[in-house]
Amino acid sequence: MELDIGPEDFCEDGVIKGRRLAKIIRRAIAEEVERLTKEHGTPPKLVTVLVGEDPGSKMYVRMKHKACTRVGIVSEGYTLPEETSEEELLGLINELNTDPSVNGILVQLPLPRHIDEETIISAIDPDKDVDGFSPRNIYRLFYSGELLTSATPQGIVTILDALRVDLDGKHAVIVNRSTIVGKPLVMLLLNRNITVTVCHSHTKDLPSITRTADILVTAVGRRKTEDDPFFITADMVKEGAIVIDVATPHGDCDFEAVKEKASFITPVPGGVGPMTITMLLKNVLAAYSFQMARTNVLTSYAVSYGSFPS
Ligand code: GUN
Repeated sequence: MELDIGPEDFCEDGVIKGRRLAKIIRRAIAEEVERLTKEHGTPPKLVTVLVGEDPGSKMYVRMKHKACTRVGIVSEGYTLPEETSEEELLGLINELNTDPSVNGILVQLPLPRHIDEETIISAIDPDKDVDGFSPRNIYRLFYSGELLTSATPQGIVTILDALRVDLDGKHAVIVNRSTIVGKPLVMLLLNRNITVTVCHSHTKDLPSITRTADILVTAVGRRKTEDDPFFITADMVKEGAIVIDVATPHGDCDFEAVKEKASFITPVPGGVGPMTITMLLKNVLAAYSFQMARTNVLTSYAVSYGSFPS
């Protein structure tokens, strides 16, 4: 899916309107879903699994289902009680792995403490792992393949790509080292020939590093102090930098002041957030497309040779 998008389509006064960019991409996804559904006879299908009653997780899962419906992706949700055992959850994942009608599987995190997240994520068929968290997909990312990649980092690089700025050899500073955002983002930026520095809670003299950033990505996600709430203030930003604020529910940046120095900046809300779910939809479509292509290859092989290859 190649889209001809430039900053004029989604930026205003240097402010990146994530909802506008997300809408353009979701429209293209919906068209592709419609075309492929006609071609293959069945629409793509995502299954979500939520364990427990966390209100935040419930809300995110609801948003994911709604976004699927809007682009023609069928979605089903399993809501399991908090006391579900690891074995029971593994049993459900195995069923979904082998069900050919399921193209994407998403287990909402975090899981209850008695369930090992790594064990669960590793059990998901990598070709259905639309979060891009499984070992196989992390490995693919290390080897420059961006097939099923974690949605938030993918949303960030989609914004950067659409800005059409020459990023080759530029310096990106990421203030976050999580497995969902910071670490996969390092790979995506390296794949674009960007020099990357990762900062975190133990980093000494953060401002001296952020001031060297051509691209500053921040995802701390809490207030520094009541009197001095912003982790990223204007004096920490280089003139002309691209600033991507991933933090929720409040941004890390002193937005109005940083906006004056940045060439482009994402607001919170309405910046990276809408792009994250859009990238999940893109991953479901990608998973469906290559599963269908593989089925077609196997079917034509069977027609030619009378059996499936083992
Ligand atoms: N919890 C917070 N973010 C995510 C995400 O991107 N995927 C899943 N599965 N759980 C999450």
